[in-house]
Amino acid sequence: MSVARYWHTASTLANGLVLVTGGNIVGSVNTAELYNSSTGTWTTTGSMSAARGDHTASILANGYILVTGGFNGAAALKSAELYNPSSGTWTITGSMNVAREDHTASTLANGSVLVAGGKNGVYLNSAELYNPLTGTWTLTGNMSTPRYFHTTSTLENGLILVVGGQNSNVYLDSAELYNPSTGIWTTTGSMNDARAHHTTSLLATGSVLVAGGSNRVAGEFHDAALNSAELYNPSTGTWTTTSNMSIAREIHIASTLANGKVLVTGGLYSGVYLNSAELY
Ligand SMILES: *[C@@H]1O[C@H](CO)[C@@H](O)[C@H](O)[C@H]1NC(C)=O
Ligand SMILES: *[C@@H]1O[C@H](CO)[C@@H](O)[C@H](O)[C@H]1NC(C)=O
Ligand SMILES: *[C@@H]1O[C@H](CO)[C@@H](O)[C@H](O)[C@H]1NC(C)=O
Ligand SMILES: *[C@@H]1O[C@H](CO)[C@@H](O)[C@H](O)[C@H]1NC(C)=O
Repeated sequence: MSVARYWHTASTLANGLVLVTGGNIVGSVNTAELYNSSTGTWTTTGSMSAARGDHTASILANGYILVTGGFNGAAALKSAELYNPSSGTWTITGSMNVAREDHTASTLANGSVLVAGGKNGVYLNSAELYNPLTGTWTLTGNMSTPRYFHTTSTLENGLILVVGGQNSNVYLDSAELYNPSTGIWTTTGSMNDARAHHTTSLLATGSVLVAGGSNRVAGEFHDAALNSAELYNPSTGTWTTTSNMSIAREIHIASTLANGKVLVTGGLYSGVYLNSAELY
């Protein structure tokens, strides 16, 4: 890439290019770049109006990319912008009701985008829906718990599963389900381990795999990476422990391969950055 970045986003566009946006270097950046896998090269594309890291990027049904919130180096943002892949340019769209960083975004079956949680100096339980037809945001039901550094998964039944995260320095084992038809969250089974900075992956079986993350033992000042993994069964709403990863890791990446296996790569363990990878 032309610029070093972390806490950026990466999205695969309908034309096969990968759009990378924003992130932190020292402060946040507003630049974006496109990767063409045929040539293995990066080209700079239009810049966002705001520098942002710890934001979200979601692909809309019309092929545009919606970027929301994030941290601009001084504060969390309410603003959102749309990337047009045909023109390579950004336009401002409606702002969220609440400024957020370290939140999540999930695209619903009807095309709206649900953002949930995050932080902006306080920890957020609120959630809101973006309507791509009107370019506006509407608050929807609150989660029962404020959370950031959580994950979301869209289940086969259309419900959105929110998993773990942190509420201030408290690591969460709880999970909640959002029903897009009612706009209401309900608590579902809790994980065996509280965790933030984990990954979740929807498996071909319909279950959700949660892997690794960080946790903090009561009385300890520092968090510790986890090697544990668990499976969520949407039919029963319960979690069961599955085999451990070989290496404890947080802030890693999980990618579902075409053969259904989940590839976990890198991350952080006890201050050491990891180059190892494992398959589930
Ligand atoms: C990617 O690069 C190839 C080779 O130059 C080019 O033919 C193709 O059009 C590029 N893809 C896009 C989506 O621009
Ligand atoms: C999707 O459904 C939600 C909940 O009924 C609704 O608030 C939202 O406006 C719908 N979005 C679109 C694009 O129709
Ligand atoms: C949602 O939570 C916020 C505080 O985080 C509160 O101000 C608001 O009234 C709540 N909304 C509902 C519908 O309970
Ligand atoms: C997984 O690792 C934890 C400690 O990290 C250990 O307590 C537990 O027994 C392990 N589970 C299995 C199934 O090996």
